[in-house]
Amino acid sequence: MTLCFESPEEARRWCRSERDAGRSIGFVPTMGALHAGHLALAHRALAENERVVVSIFVNPLQFNDPGDLERYPRDFAADAALLEEKGVSMVFTGTLEGFFPGELIEGALPEERYLDPGPAAEGLEGAFRPGHFRGVATIVDRLFDVVEPERAYFGQKDYQQCLVVEELARRRGGPRIVVCPTVREEDGLALSSRNLLLDEEGRAAAPTIQRALEAARAAWNGGERDPDRLCERMGRVLATAPLEVEYAEVRDPRAWSAERPARLDQHAVALIAAGASGRAGSRVRLIDNLILA
Ligand code: PAF
Repeated sequence: MTLCFESPEEARRWCRSERDAGRSIGFVPTMGALHAGHLALAHRALAENERVVVSIFVNPLQFNDPGDLERYPRDFAADAALLEEKGVSMVFTGTLEGFFPGELIEGALPEERYLDPGPAAEGLEGAFRPGHFRGVATIVDRLFDVVEPERAYFGQKDYQQCLVVEELARRRGGPRIVVCPTVREEDGLALSSRNLLLDEEGRAAAPTIQRALEAARAAWNGGERDPDRLCERMGRVLATAPLEVEYAEVRDPRAWSAERPARLDQHAVALIAAGASGRAGSRVRLIDNLILA
């Protein structure tokens, strides 16, 4: 039976009592609309911990576009049923006021209360979604305060988010961050809650993102190390589909830089963000990445 709490205080009390009883806690933070990617994180957490906690909170602090926040899919009943079936110990939700009691001014968190997300927040997602990572770092820090997990699980699809959260965990002295592989549809599309928002044309175009990443990997495996040429390869594939490309870039994962590095050597990651056609005339922003080496 999966317990469910809305109050961070109650969730914290439960987590404390489990820890005091010597049971390890694995934590999967989510924004709900759960899919097989989230369930893979829960699965790994269940294998490595005695208790698993999942949070479901659509965090307004990390949305730079109010329309995006409004459209973000929500289905708590379906999520709770999936987590129950999976054997998750506890799920907690929450409200902004509940996470930051007495701190909101006119419903918003004051500027100075946001955490600095660190250097990995610069460039790419950080540039296209200003304020996104400080919102992520601020809420994840709060969630970690509530759960105090031994391990926390994140999907590699949100590559830069993983770097930001790793840095946050380093600063806090824990938890251990476990980055899990991206789960994909059969046609290669990375699972994302946002895929639900795609229309037929957008859904047909979306797997091109992964094909472009694979093209970069093929070039890398063929010996290509020039960042510009790797990006060009991705651009050529992306141009074959109706996608609005925000970026198709390469970075050195060991030395994150806002700008494209002048050269790559042994380590590289390719990252793409593109808009695809969504229901009711909307545009759905998709991201994906692939480690080249
Ligand atoms: O990856 C997400 O779903 C969110 O960014 C997270 C980590 C739950 C923080 O709101």
